[in-house]
Amino acid sequence: MDSKDTLLQLSKTMPKTELHLHIEGTFEAEQMFAIAQRNQVPLKYQSVEALKAAYQFTNLQDFLDLYYQGMSVLLHEVDFYDLTMAYLTKVHEENVVHVEIFFDPQGHLSRGVAFETQITGIYRALQDAQQQWGMSFKLIMSFLRHLSEESAFETLELAKPFLNWIDGVGLDSSELGHPPEKFLRVFEACQALGLKVTAHAGEEGPPEYVWQAIEQIKVDRIDHGNRALEDEKLVAVIKEQELTLTVCPLSNLKLCVVNDMTDHPIKDMLALGLKATVNSDDPAYFGGYMQANYNALINDSDINKAELYQLAVNGITGSWMDQELKYQHLDTLKSLFS
Ligand code: HPA
Ligand code: ZN
Repeated sequence: MDSKDTLLQLSKTMPKTELHLHIEGTFEAEQMFAIAQRNQVPLKYQSVEALKAAYQFTNLQDFLDLYYQGMSVLLHEVDFYDLTMAYLTKVHEENVVHVEIFFDPQGHLSRGVAFETQITGIYRALQDAQQQWGMSFKLIMSFLRHLSEESAFETLELAKPFLNWIDGVGLDSSELGHPPEKFLRVFEACQALGLKVTAHAGEEGPPEYVWQAIEQIKVDRIDHGNRALEDEKLVAVIKEQELTLTVCPLSNLKLCVVNDMTDHPIKDMLALGLKATVNSDDPAYFGGYMQANYNALINDSDINKAELYQLAVNGITGSWMDQELKYQHLDTLKSLFS
């Protein structure tokens, strides 16, 4: 039996991937205040402490209300660069070797910030991290599901000059009342352009939304997927299709998707043969980055060495990185855990 200390140490040294990360959700309160001041944009909160004190959420919408307020200070390319570089610097120190990052263009377009401004800042930071540290990356444009499909189509038009920078598309924001099928046609258009597709499903929404994501949208993976466990047939389909679930433990705790980390379903997912991975979602709001999520699972959910290994392997195999790179990281993991 390996001690928790051994597992914590292994989780630190092992190469990790991040497959579910909203770049706007990495906006630390300190940096938000600094950029707000730089851009002369007023914030609703008087201080960093007052803002952080508001990070008490009972559901997804509580969080989203603050998330959209926070991102409203991002105006210029350099803001998007600084935000992205701050995140990449942090996770590089945690031995994250590959990131797949969501951004929410509609959350900025609605404030008059051009698509080009957003994506150029984010992409330049990703390129710099790749050059400096060899960190590989994919970029995922996410559609806001509380808006219309027409708005998603307009966003796709704006993205077309930048398609060589965009690897996939996602679906996020308020889940309840906005099922995946609402976006069927726009996802078909994205797939026709050669983009990968993922969607948030089963975070708060029912198993039916996960069915729609798989059978109608034909997603390449599922973000969250917690509520899929309520439906045995759905579990069998996810397993048979080897769909990766990008699970976010600390996010689930903060948004009351789970009551306690000791009740987190990630061990059940693994036991059912599902390809669960560990991710941080919106780390500035949810209490920690990649390492903190692993620490929580080791300390509170009692994952064992075999489960830790499986989670790390799933993060590599479920990513969209090149096959050759996957083999390299899998070899490293194998020797670390042997
Ligand atoms: N769920 C849905 N939408 C989001 C999230 C999330 O966890 N984070 C940012 N947008
Ligand atoms: Zn998310």
